[in-house]
Amino acid sequence: MKKYIVTGGAGFIGSALVRALLARGDGRVEVVDNLLTGHRRNLAEVESRIAFHDVDIRDFGAVAPVIAGADVVFHLAAIPSVPRSIADPVPSHEVNTDGTFNVLRAAAEGRCGRVVYAASSSAYGNTEVLPKVETMRPLPLSPYAAQKLMGEYYASAFSHCYGLQTVSLRFFNVYGPRQDPSSAYSGVLSLFMKHLIARTAPTIFGDGEQTRDFTFVEDVAELVIKASQASGVSGNMYNAGNGGRYSLNQLWTLLQEIEGVRISPAYGPPRAGDVRDSQADTTAAVRDLGHAPRFTIEQGLRRTLDWYKKDVAAEATLTAS
Ligand code: UD1
Repeated sequence: MKKYIVTGGAGFIGSALVRALLARGDGRVEVVDNLLTGHRRNLAEVESRIAFHDVDIRDFGAVAPVIAGADVVFHLAAIPSVPRSIADPVPSHEVNTDGTFNVLRAAAEGRCGRVVYAASSSAYGNTEVLPKVETMRPLPLSPYAAQKLMGEYYASAFSHCYGLQTVSLRFFNVYGPRQDPSSAYSGVLSLFMKHLIARTAPTIFGDGEQTRDFTFVEDVAELVIKASQASGVSGNMYNAGNGGRYSLNQLWTLLQEIEGVRISPAYGPPRAGDVRDSQADTTAAVRDLGHAPRFTIEQGLRRTLDWYKKDVAAEATLTAS
């Protein structure tokens, strides 16, 4: 039986990865999460099949014994959000940079097999050319982007210096079930879902023509597992996007069509630190990792919307009882 550690396993992407690993059934899955942005409810129906460690990755002494001896450490724990890192950079730095260093150090000292690290497409900044390819010079525009980039560099350095296998995956705007829409820093599609169901107007920052390579969470989970198994890739970084690109205006229009409603969005000033366009060149991930995303944007949006509707209905039942 293999030992898999998922840091951030109670989060949106982490909990999808936990489910994907359990479905494979070839290892014991242990979650490391301090529930700062994650939720136990994200693991509700799989809780009895995993081990849960309420541990903060900022605490090396606490995290090291939990991680030691793991075959794979999937390092997804982070404080996400570009604007959050601008408004309050210290906690983001401590978790995203220092915490990542702790996880890598614990994995190296604990003789783990491999660390797969959740890096971010934000590291590219505004490139002159689309799609964005791994060989482009990074240009982080926010503390979050800089922190995530530092994690990549550390992962690569640990691979070279300490013989720890590492793979970094730059996630491109992941969306899907369980993305938490409750904060001003939430991912835009989770907020769109919330407004669509409530029949209220979302706020779009800027003209809405900025584009993103929205990637369905189950496709990301599959790629993360592939990255844990591929050979000859240690120290590398790969784009983990879908290869497409949609503007916020296009997506809000598509969601209204799916739902059969018309709600004009409110437009606000552009957001500081925002990247204008984002689209992944997936050639390297396809070639080296066998990346094969299965969900079109419409399929992904429909599945996501169905999940939010059920979640809203379940909340309403809970509140009424
Ligand atoms: C960035 C990264 C992504 C990372 C994520 C973590 C880029 C290209 N992507 O996402 O890889 O995983 O941070 O949090 O840098 N918006 C609105 N209205 C809202 C909320 C957001 O219009 O209510 C806009 C934002 O201004 C932005 C777009 O929607 O233009 C996407 O925002 P968000 O979902 O927060 O993600 P990114 O910052 O693009």
